[in-house]
Amino acid sequence: MNVEQIKNVAVIGAGNMGHQIAALLAIHGYETRCMDTDRKVLEKAETFFTGYLDKQVNEGRLSEKEAQKAAAKLHVTQDLEKAVVPADFVIEAIVEMLDVKRKLFSKMDKLAPKHAILATNSSYIVSSKIADATSRPDKVCNMHFFNPALVMKLVEVVKGEHVSEETAEVAYQLIEKIGKKPVMLNKEVEGFLINRIVRVIRFEAYWLHEMGIASIEDIDSACVHGLGHPMGPFRLNDLVGLDLTYTMATEKFKSTGNPVDLPYTSLVKKYAQGKFGRKTGEGWYTYPNE
Ligand code: NAI
Repeated sequence: MNVEQIKNVAVIGAGNMGHQIAALLAIHGYETRCMDTDRKVLEKAETFFTGYLDKQVNEGRLSEKEAQKAAAKLHVTQDLEKAVVPADFVIEAIVEMLDVKRKLFSKMDKLAPKHAILATNSSYIVSSKIADATSRPDKVCNMHFFNPALVMKLVEVVKGEHVSEETAEVAYQLIEKIGKKPVMLNKEVEGFLINRIVRVIRFEAYWLHEMGIASIEDIDSACVHGLGHPMGPFRLNDLVGLDLTYTMATEKFKSTGNPVDLPYTSLVKKYAQGKFGRKTGEGWYTYPNE
């Protein structure tokens, strides 16, 4: 398959990441089916998309006609079969849990056309850990978007040993077609490029905070004013979701058994309190209007 043959795409999981990835694909003309098990999440995704398109029209970035065309391209469903059976390309964006992802990929493998590529948006898990749950490991790769996906340019594509040249190339070109900036990793490594770098900063920030060396606000302010980062590690953690950070750490610990990979105490506390960041109205900071 070459990139021009991709007409139908499926995005599985319509949460923080999936709803924006689906919107992006629909705006770029792909017949997009966005699936989630949670009806409310799908309703929220639809409301978001309508509001987003209205804003694009009001601000002159899209014409009325283009917005209508994009709106007609996005379909939401709770039915995996409906989403995946017609898909040339699938992007999975469900919870960051290896066993759940493996089960999903095994199901999708049975439903998707033989030529379809199955990509995962996982933040951390390399696709070789998922690919062997399918009969097409050469067509399973990482395609890692950043949050918020409609805004952030970068997408990491990972060409693990099991991934064919064709799959990596098509994934890379699809990213270019939807106006993003792909980078190719020639070997698998957990966390890819950016999350490995960010993880070091985040762990250091947790440590500085837990040692009482500076406040959350001042640690964030130091990164913004001293490093030129658009936001500090705690603010970024609220955007990404503390639940995801917690799950990533526990999943990593499960695979390494190394106590340094365990989540920091302050993160465990927030997680236990259900303070996941912007999505719950409170994380390291509070968000009364979200
Ligand atoms: P989320 O928790 O906001 O959304 C996950 C969605 O998946 C939920 O709506 C849930 O109902 C749905 N879901 C769970 N199991 C499902 C299944 N079997 N079939 C269909 N839907 C299912 O999670 P978020 O933050 O969007 O993350 C999704 C993926 O994207 C994860 O792998 C994460 O590592 C990755 N990612 C997250 C980023 C972030 O900043 N939050 C950034 C880049 C990647």
